Amino acid sequence: MSTVPVSLTVNGERHELDVEARLLLVHLLRDRLGLTGTHVGCDTSNCGACTVHVDGEAVKSCTVLAAQADGTNVTTIEGLADGDKLHPLQQAFWNDHALQCGYCTPGMIMSAADLLARNPDPSEEEIRHGLEGNLCRCTGYHNIVKAVKSAATGQSGGTVEAPAPPEGARETAEAVAEGMKP
Ligand code: FES
Ligand code: FES
Repeated sequence: MSTVPVSLTVNGERHELDVEARLLLVHLLRDRLGLTGTHVGCDTSNCGACTVHVDGEAVKSCTVLAAQADGTNVTTIEGLADGDKLHPLQQAFWNDHALQCGYCTPGMIMSAADLLARNPDPSEEEIRHGLEGNLCRCTGYHNIVKAVKSAATGQSGGTVEAPAPPEGARETAEAVAEGMKP
């Protein structure tokens, strides 16, 4: 098995690896680096589930050899948030219920991020055109387009609120804490 050395930066972290010459970038990310947020939907460059950014541009990582990514800067869905603060697109997808099974979501968000970097205020038609390489098998396109639009207009806001506890949970927790006092 012939291997080639690859040196690349992924989500700000430098990696030096020896990889099989035929290894695809998507498999390097998922299997060698454990970044499983990048999905494989088709492996034939049709679905967009594997979309990442290479040197700032959205690419389908199932169409790129790992060796071709030598010397590049790669960003995956795991690198989009700022610590605990979601990226505006992630927040917008949350707010607008722009996912069902979620399988297409990382690729959709990475493609949308590339679109907004090039066109910060796209029309609905431009969003649909920009995402045409990404397929959603749950056909949630309406809310996906809505989420991209709200991220573009700054309506998606900042961090995710912690979900409210179920009714009565606080009282129960307080009662338990009270009972544990010496
Ligand atoms: S897995 Fe790459 S386009 Fe479908
Ligand atoms: S949310 Fe299921 S494939 Fe898009």
